[in-house]
Amino acid sequence: MDVLKLMKARYSCRKFSDELIKDEDVSKILETGRLAPSAQNKQPWRFLVVKSAEGLNKVDAATRCRFHAPVAILVCFDKEVSAKNEKVNPDYGWVDCGIAISQMALEAEELGLGSCIVGAYDPDVARKEFNLPKNIVPYLFLMVGQTDMPPSEMHRERADLKDIVFNETF
Ligand SMILES: Cc1cc2nc3c(=O)[nH]c(=O)nc-3n(C[C@H](O)[C@H](O)[C@H](O)COP(=O)(O)O)c2cc1C
Repeated sequence: MDVLKLMKARYSCRKFSDELIKDEDVSKILETGRLAPSAQNKQPWRFLVVKSAEGLNKVDAATRCRFHAPVAILVCFDKEVSAKNEKVNPDYGWVDCGIAISQMALEAEELGLGSCIVGAYDPDVARKEFNLPKNIVPYLFLMVGQTDMPPSEMHRERADLKDIVFNETF
């Protein structure tokens, strides 16, 4: 699938089926996170993969947005590793994780799976439940599984280019 088609096809899945997903597919998704670009090539992301019943209960303690997904990946970064630039971005770890998770969501789509990026969770609960060390900053979950719903209305809602693109000057 070409990238534009893949991007149009991906949507946030908020209802997953009971079907489990192959470890091989999880590995492929993680590989696309690993290949993501990062500021100064610091690769500060750390991917916590959760698929056991016990682990998924911990995810549910942190968020209402697992949507029954059989796999949850908590995308974190190591703040002692991420690039910093006081003027432009005090910590590039956030954007590095954003790029990685985007690539992973697209790979899930390529594999015929559904995914949802989830920012609505309690990071303190996640920190405690998953024993995150102090230097590890949790950012977003990527829920992955077999989708059991069509795209929502929000998937179709996008601003026109004329409203978001500026030529030469603002
Ligand atoms: C940083 C980020 C955080 C998000 N957090 C949530 C969330 O907590 N719960 C949820 O259901 N969707 C979440 N979403 C999904 C967005 O709501 C969704 O991408 C947007 O509505 C566009 O719909 P689409 O992904 O189907 O195209 C998040 C997306 C991003 C990029």
